[in-house]
Amino acid sequence: MASRTPLVAGNWKMHFDHLEATYFVQKLAWLLRDAHFDYKRCEVALMPSFTALRSVQVLVEADRLPIRYGAQSVSVTTQGAFTGDVSADMIAALGCRYVIVGHSERRKYHPEDDANIVDQVRAVLAAGMQPILCVGESFEERRQGIELDFAVGQVHDVTRDLSSDQAAKLVIAYEPVWAIGTGMVATPESAQDAAKAIRDDLAATFSRDVADGVRILYGGSVSSKNAVELIGEPDVDGFLIGGAALDADELAKIARMT
Ligand code: G3P
Repeated sequence: MASRTPLVAGNWKMHFDHLEATYFVQKLAWLLRDAHFDYKRCEVALMPSFTALRSVQVLVEADRLPIRYGAQSVSVTTQGAFTGDVSADMIAALGCRYVIVGHSERRKYHPEDDANIVDQVRAVLAAGMQPILCVGESFEERRQGIELDFAVGQVHDVTRDLSSDQAAKLVIAYEPVWAIGTGMVATPESAQDAAKAIRDDLAATFSRDVADGVRILYGGSVSSKNAVELIGEPDVDGFLIGGAALDADELAKIARMT
């Protein structure tokens, strides 16, 4: 049985400037130190906006904080005349460990689909970071009863041409779109069904070893009220959290439960 270190990741979306971000990181680090939190048992990562990344890096490195951090998106280009874009190399140069790729809000508001999400995954891996690949169905797919096929199809379309080494570095976040920001959390059973279906597809595409090593997170209205049941599922390895990650006390509570 592969051992997967749980990961609690906060996706701040478009919240917190660099001053608010550094205040939050210090408070979270203080709360977790006060609780004698073991970062080797459970990894904690924060995904601030681009404008806060350098400030977070300086603080984390200066205080040697065991908190990881990363970006919420990435451009597929490396450098050049791409106004407003941010390359994976630029993000990696700030000590980032993770980059969220294919979040439903990126797919909704930006021209991002499985095709260029593959390129984003490759760019993140080439820069030495780990992609957190987001997948998940809408209400309509769930109403039709095709939620598992839909989420697995999203993972398969993005991963099928990767090498096993590349796939082994992925983190997958199963985030049913109907649960994001709604307070409607998936049941532990349905989160487990999706995570297991995704893991089984990874096993078929690559190998059982690769599949068993990939961390599969759940995202969508996670809070300290539902985290314990969700993390109790065998194929759920942690969380990608939006709203609850904007409150240091709540995020510290969830990390301690994971
Ligand atoms: O990426 C995580 C995010 O989409 C989940 O948001 O507010 O439902 O925890 P929230």
